[in-house]
Amino acid sequence: MNREPVSALISQLHPDGYGLTEDGRLAVLSALPGEQVTAVPFTRKKKRTFSRLQNIAVASSDRVVPECAVADICGGCSLQHLGRDAQVAFKQKRWLAGFDVPPDELLPPLLGRQFGYRAKARLSVRYVARKQRVLVGFREKMSRFVAETDLCKVLREPVGSLLVPLSEVIGELTAPEDIPQIEVAVGDAGFALVIRHMSTLSQADQTLLAGFAGRTGADIYLQSGGVDTISPLDPERVYPLLYYDLPAEGLRFYFKPLDFTQVNHEINEAMVRLAISLLELSPSHRVLDAFCGIGNFSLPLSNHCARVVGIEGSDESVQRARYNAQQNGIRNVEFHTRDLFEASLADLLESEPFDSVLIDPPRSGAERLVKTLAASEVRRVVYVSCNPDTLARDAAILKGEGGFQFARAGVIDMFPHTTHIESIALFCR
Ligand SMILES: C[S@@+](CC[C@H](N)C(=O)[O-])C[C@H]1O[C@@H](n2cnc3c(N)ncnc32)[C@H](O)[C@@H]1O
Repeated sequence: MNREPVSALISQLHPDGYGLTEDGRLAVLSALPGEQVTAVPFTRKKKRTFSRLQNIAVASSDRVVPECAVADICGGCSLQHLGRDAQVAFKQKRWLAGFDVPPDELLPPLLGRQFGYRAKARLSVRYVARKQRVLVGFREKMSRFVAETDLCKVLREPVGSLLVPLSEVIGELTAPEDIPQIEVAVGDAGFALVIRHMSTLSQADQTLLAGFAGRTGADIYLQSGGVDTISPLDPERVYPLLYYDLPAEGLRFYFKPLDFTQVNHEINEAMVRLAISLLELSPSHRVLDAFCGIGNFSLPLSNHCARVVGIEGSDESVQRARYNAQQNGIRNVEFHTRDLFEASLADLLESEPFDSVLIDPPRSGAERLVKTLAASEVRRVVYVSCNPDTLARDAAILKGEGGFQFARAGVIDMFPHTTHIESIALFCR
């Protein structure tokens, strides 16, 4: 491959966030449509040459100076160089393009803070012999190397400021090269680090980590193998659960570091409020919350209706949902473990007259469930999606097979500076 710099006019923004020439053959990381750039090729993939930006001769009016010094290199963000309005417009356009017919009403995008929002992350760890130091952070864009980051501005504090101290303590361990990753989970009061280690940590190693925990307030867990091997650094110690609050609903949600929780707690609160208003609940309504996790929607919904049944595939999450209901003194909810890809909910829907259903599936969507809903008596469905492609597929089923009207929908800026698209949609009949 020729690695000589090339000049190019960028005409499109790829869904993964890089700029593309008109013929699609040259991809330039961190370049924007309308920009005339010089770029240095570094790899070829899928008949496309990928290059890094060297110089911008003509800049887009949507370009902004990124907050992070390493934004162009770090894979944690792909759109920090694009202004907020343009980021959201790009996501909304891509999301709308998936539907054959758009919603009757486009909701305004749900916006929150742009930095310090990210409460969950899997950080990579790498011992770099050449630098004789350990790096902790996100991988570089399209690379297996870890970006050298002193401060991550998207991670929720205090973790965003702890990358260097964390890398230093890992560097002092006996075998830093045996630590591949650290999972981060931040709550409203406290944060946890789950340190994956491939070899046994000596007593001295554990003392070093305990010192770090003491200095920073981290709850440190060790993980020697699969998720069932996670245990507190000090086996005698039981850390309190992390939690986040939804003050408007007077609720507190407890969770463990690897439970599914929404990444952005501020926008989550706005999203939950929007879901409640779209469902138009009345005190007599019964609601089914599918893919309910730890009860993030179920508990607030239960404040506004007669009864909520939450269904979730992870038994651990169901246990946490029940615990959360109990801790919040909520009695009109019930949670069940069920694999919603394998089992139909037809029996449940036949046994009880649910007025509405909230669906918040993983990326693969909820094809089986929406087919069941299409054949049911349910009149109102609110679908929260993290994948526009599966939302578009499932929306077509609800409309085509179920006769639902695609009434209102909009994007949610859950993951600023990344290309992830979260959205919410209301289907009625
Ligand atoms: C996007 S999360 C939403 C969780 C919750 N609604 C919230 O707001 O925190 C998707 C949830 O689907 C669950 N899940 C994934 N696959 C599943 C399956 N096959 N059956 C049931 N639940 C599943 C995950 O455990 C996770 O809790």
